[in-house]
Amino acid sequence: MAKSIRARLGRPVVMIGLMGAGKTRIGGMLANALDVPFVDADHEIETMTGMTIARIFQEQGESAFRVLERENIARLLTGDVKIIATGGGAIMNEETAALVWDKSVSVWLRAGVDTLTSRTAKSDTRPLLQTGNPRDILAGLIERRYPSYSNATLTVDTDEADVQTVLGRVMNSLDAYLPSKDIPAHV
Ligand code: S3P
Repeated sequence: MAKSIRARLGRPVVMIGLMGAGKTRIGGMLANALDVPFVDADHEIETMTGMTIARIFQEQGESAFRVLERENIARLLTGDVKIIATGGGAIMNEETAALVWDKSVSVWLRAGVDTLTSRTAKSDTRPLLQTGNPRDILAGLIERRYPSYSNATLTVDTDEADVQTVLGRVMNSLDAYLPSKDIPAHV
């Protein structure tokens, strides 16, 4: 199935979802399975600036980070087929969202608040979760962001599923979504 998906893809795949949804993990596994490059957009920003996301938020503010994020994703979307993991807030920028819907196959990894809270609990690298009770913050973000995320090409549920199961769901969804390469002899 992986070869057939790769052959029919033609556009980047963009992983979207909240913090803890598994965008980086599943995106990396998908890239591996399809044998295409993987790019973590936030990691690229950290490499380009030589600063962690937390430090950019702290020293330059969230709006400066959002500008970097928008420019970076716009650039990544112009390149070859690849899997791009975005930061959870990227799609909330209208320009970024419009580009993603237009130029990629977007995959929303959907998860409920309990799943996201437990998956993000061990990490202290996310500035947005440092400002209060992480569960409450994530619940607020679900309310504000899920209506936008629901515009993704494909939605894959990740609650109570291990990474292999989620990867399988993503591959099955891509396989079902992508048009067949066989062109009928007579149209
Ligand atoms: C953010 C999510 C983070 C990172 C930044 C802001 C957000 O990425 O971009 O901390 O606004 O949801 P992950 O979703 O990869 O954790």
